[in-house]
Amino acid sequence: MSSIQNTLGPITSVIGAQWGDEGKGKIVDILASEYDIIARACGGANAGHTIVVEGKKHVFHLMPSGCLHADKQIVLGAGLVIHLPTLLKEIATLEENGISIIDRLHISHAAHIVFDYHKEVDAALEEARANPIGTTKRGIGPAYMDKAARSGIRMESLSADVSDELRSRVPHIKTMYGVDMDADTEIQNLKDAQSKIGSCIKDTVAYLANARKSGKSILIEGAQAVLLDIDHGTYPFVTSSSTTLAGALQGLGIPPMCVKSCIGVAKAYCTRVGEGEFDSAASGEAEERLRERGGEYGSTTGRPRRTGWLNIDQLNIANATNGFTAWNVTKLDVLDVEEVIPVMINGKLEELPGWKENTAGITNFDDLPENAQKYILRIEKETGVPVTFIGTGPGREEMITRT
Ligand code: GDP
Ligand code: IMO
Ligand code: MG
Repeated sequence: MSSIQNTLGPITSVIGAQWGDEGKGKIVDILASEYDIIARACGGANAGHTIVVEGKKHVFHLMPSGCLHADKQIVLGAGLVIHLPTLLKEIATLEENGISIIDRLHISHAAHIVFDYHKEVDAALEEARANPIGTTKRGIGPAYMDKAARSGIRMESLSADVSDELRSRVPHIKTMYGVDMDADTEIQNLKDAQSKIGSCIKDTVAYLANARKSGKSILIEGAQAVLLDIDHGTYPFVTSSSTTLAGALQGLGIPPMCVKSCIGVAKAYCTRVGEGEFDSAASGEAEERLRERGGEYGSTTGRPRRTGWLNIDQLNIANATNGFTAWNVTKLDVLDVEEVIPVMINGKLEELPGWKENTAGITNFDDLPENAQKYILRIEKETGVPVTFIGTGPGREEMITRT
């Protein structure tokens, strides 16, 4: 067992603790080198996980961020909603980069399919709302609506003929949402997917159970984040899936008792894309400075993210629903120019002193400026969870690990 696995155990998970885009992809990519299987559990192509390897940027929407490691097994679990053309495009991009994936990709037969019409219905529902959610318009809500209504079409249907079923939906979708569903294109997309990934579809619960029995290690990559959780997030400005550790285990069908650790990922500040409350939002020049320094534009939609300050009360709420055993505090370097750094603690914005020094690329905790160390230690004190990983830049190697 490797040193990180000694600390985290053979089954671990990475969960976003804020409103998404905390940098989950980067820590997953780093840890992936030490795990056999990398698994995604929930959500769909609303996620955008960015990793930077040797200066090259890769953005994944459906594929787990560990997939760049050519020897790893990749699982897409039952809790996902999968838009097939997006998945095929991601596979094609990997293959163009010389990374083969089909022979190590395991897709749950029970994951639901996001059709193009779901995306159009998503947009139509947003249009009709008095207070739009600001969804990614990737069809996530409507696909989960079909799933909950027990009228969803699952990955197992790729090998069946669901043409009649799809055609029969056309008038209903038109009447309900005013959307013209293109059944022929949807049917063709299913055929294309069957010929490319048909061999990957299987019972992933059995696959993961057998893997565990034979001593394989598993890294679970959460998508979205705790405050976007359908039950525990800032409803109704949330996504339509369960984004907590419990949700990820449910989505994959892994017994909860197996997991010994869970890494909560939180930016050293905070961002939100889409609508909804944001107590610790920054104002004036600070908002723009954080956005520019942090590159805070959505990796899925390109929308500018709203920016603000770390809210430790939220981290405590996120910890209450997940039981984090470690934090990965990301993007510390973005705060390098701040004179003072407001932090929300017990409902009040407290101003902590900045460090006004470069932390970018630092890999040892002791090399951080004193005030940056104090900032991290304050997060530990207020949350009772150790900050084991600290991000100091987008690159794979720009991470402090304290074990
Ligand atoms: P995810 O959805 O949680 O995987 O996060 P995103 O990929 O949507 O957004 C995180 C962004 O921050 C990406 O552009 C990453 O390359 C970048 N990033 C991650 N960690 C760090 C860090 O420690 N410092 C800086 N400056 N950028 C980082
Ligand atoms: P990752 O995995 C940030 C947000 C949307 C919107 C709300 C509902 O990259 O952290 P949806 O399309 O899911 O119905 O939109 O949820 N949202 C995200 N925000 N990062 C994400 O994923 C998100 N996935 C959904 O912006 O506010
Ligand atoms: Mg993201």
